[in-house]
Amino acid sequence: MRAFDLSGKKALVTGASRGIGRAIAVAYAEAGADVALVSRSAESLAEVAKEVEALGRTAHVLPADLSDRDAAAEAVRQSIDRLGHLDIVVNNAGGSNFMVEFKDLRLSGWDKIMRLNLDSAMAVCHAVAPHLLGRGSGSVINVASVGGLGSAPFLAPYGAAKAALISLTKSLAVEWGAAGVRVNALCPGWTATDLNRNLWEDEEVSARTVGQVPMRRWGTAEEMAHPALFLAADASGYMTGQVLVIDGGLSTA
Ligand SMILES: NC(=O)c1ccc[n+]([C@@H]2O[C@H](COP(=O)([O-])OP(=O)(O)OC[C@H]3O[C@@H](n4cnc5c(N)ncnc54)[C@H](OP(=O)(O)O)[C@@H]3O)[C@@H](O)[C@H]2O)c1
Repeated sequence: MRAFDLSGKKALVTGASRGIGRAIAVAYAEAGADVALVSRSAESLAEVAKEVEALGRTAHVLPADLSDRDAAAEAVRQSIDRLGHLDIVVNNAGGSNFMVEFKDLRLSGWDKIMRLNLDSAMAVCHAVAPHLLGRGSGSVINVASVGGLGSAPFLAPYGAAKAALISLTKSLAVEWGAAGVRVNALCPGWTATDLNRNLWEDEEVSARTVGQVPMRRWGTAEEMAHPALFLAADASGYMTGQVLVIDGGLSTA
């Protein structure tokens, strides 16, 4: 369908080496886009690049630690340099590799989660702003979380970072709307990836986790990638500043 066609479009996807980011990069390539793939692991990105190339599209592997703001800006510069321009920017790199009660949280842990989940997306948006605003078009997709919509017990820094990312999304949507640049957030619920392997691999923990989800199952990375395709494509052409929640009903339960 033409409304979902990305032929000729150029996309930057962060956290593209596995999980949701990988699925988004592949879905975009299937829809016709060339992609710049960013994460820390060059080796894993090269595997994803092979998948993209098998679909007849071009992929550029750009290893970077996005917790470093300068590295994030450099990844944007290189993406534009290699692809010629950018139409779509997906800030997907993120996660939390620990859960802890807030009273026991080390402040260094707070900083680490903020840098990965908020500063990285902010730095990418800041670096890409002149390019997208100058071209007068573009779609930015910030991958937040249902944890950023309400409470995130034992994941307070992660929830706070994602809530701030949703706020940043709305502010940029308003500031950039007149220039033709759309900015939306995608909020996944429980999605089975490496990030939460410890939860879905354990049968009892997995059942307890999806027991809170009306649809009673984990989401897949592909079930996040197709809504991300919608946000990138003309299909969502009049949509900006919105939060698209894909969580099997969790946030309404
Ligand atoms: N899975 C879920 O249930 C769920 C729910 C809500 C929201 N989300 C959000 O969805 C996004 C993707 O999550 P996922 O489940 O796909 O996680 P994942 O499988 O752990 O993948 C995370 C991706 O981010 C990259 N990354 C991590 N740290 C990085 C850094 N410092 N610099 C650059 N890249 C980095 C990783 O690649 P490298 O290791 O190669 O750097 C990887 O490609 C995250 O923002 C997460 O918060 C996930």
